[in-house]
Amino acid sequence: MAMTGRCVTFIVFSLALFHNGNGQVKIKPGEIWPDTGGKHINAHGGGIIRHKGTWYWFGESRLPRGERDRTRYGVGCYSSKDLVNWKNEGLALRVINDTSSLLQPGCVIERPKVIFNRKTGKFIMWFHHELRGQGYGAALTGVAVSDDIKGPYNYIKSLRPNAGIWPVNFTKEQKNYAVTEKELKSWTEEWKQAVRDGLFVRRDFQGGQMARDMTLFVDIDGTAWHIHSSEENMTLHFSELTPDFTDFTGVYYRVLPGESNEAPAIFRAKGKYFMFSSGTTGWKPNPGRLSVSDSITGEWKAAGNPCRGSEEENSITFGSQSTFVLPVNIKKNVFVYMGDRWNPQNLADSRHIWLPVEWENDMPVIRWHDEWDIKKIK
Ligand code: GAL
Repeated sequence: MAMTGRCVTFIVFSLALFHNGNGQVKIKPGEIWPDTGGKHINAHGGGIIRHKGTWYWFGESRLPRGERDRTRYGVGCYSSKDLVNWKNEGLALRVINDTSSLLQPGCVIERPKVIFNRKTGKFIMWFHHELRGQGYGAALTGVAVSDDIKGPYNYIKSLRPNAGIWPVNFTKEQKNYAVTEKELKSWTEEWKQAVRDGLFVRRDFQGGQMARDMTLFVDIDGTAWHIHSSEENMTLHFSELTPDFTDFTGVYYRVLPGESNEAPAIFRAKGKYFMFSSGTTGWKPNPGRLSVSDSITGEWKAAGNPCRGSEEENSITFGSQSTFVLPVNIKKNVFVYMGDRWNPQNLADSRHIWLPVEWENDMPVIRWHDEWDIKKIK
């Protein structure tokens, strides 16, 4: 009897342990990734920062329904000591239940990223923000601030950056071209050239530049950059943030004009700046892209597809779209590629594709691993 009791206790305990997802050791890209409560981690299009020895993962908290459901809750936060076992810390940023708020339920909050400002001691979150009932037309970026890394983040505002300001790397001729959208047919060679020459920069000059897929990057000199898909997703803008990280200084650069990059993820290693990005095919994955530069402001050069798999795997970035590069150990050049395998029918079920960044002739590459041990690369 006693023996049976102990046996039962043991089985129940083991099941609980398994169910809780505690004690996981391996990363299994593409599989359900249970948090310490046993639920798949609901932090998509996310990013991670380390604070006082703990890692914090922020990402879109999604519903188990299709994309039309938009944002019902906000931005989720998870914490971990080992990057494998994650505790759900609840919502860091919540939608605001007030129909006069831009952040009301039904708006879209995507690709949130958090950085720490040493001078103010505050945590700053920026995210891609679309307005309720307006599809992806608003193309805004939102900012929220918190004293506590886990939140609650206080929503400040949403805007289109750099209104009334030309990019640093815009020529006098480009400022003065007279051609407008009406005179051109989309996707013709002429149109593409006009886009490269700043057709949309001029169009949006007064109201501010479009900001969709985004990331943040703090450079070694402490300057923070907001990197977003702009100009109808045709060109990336690298926009400098003010010293408190809550606004734009007006210094910004166009990067890879007309090359249709989104999902930017930036890191610095081996004295260079690298960017993973994707093409623009919505939730469907496309061939991964790598770009490289000697400084954050460029000139950025396309460096091909960083995937090292079969032709099919490379053509869909192992079924993922980049969201962040996690600096696990900068001194040892240890980084992790983080991507999303979107499931538009059930966004909450989208899978996390984490793969170790490997090096080939001092250039970052990614290979598929069914499972891998992050301790081994730390
Ligand atoms: C992708 C983008 C995602 C999401 C999606 C919506 O291109 O990277 O973050 O916005 O489109 O269709």
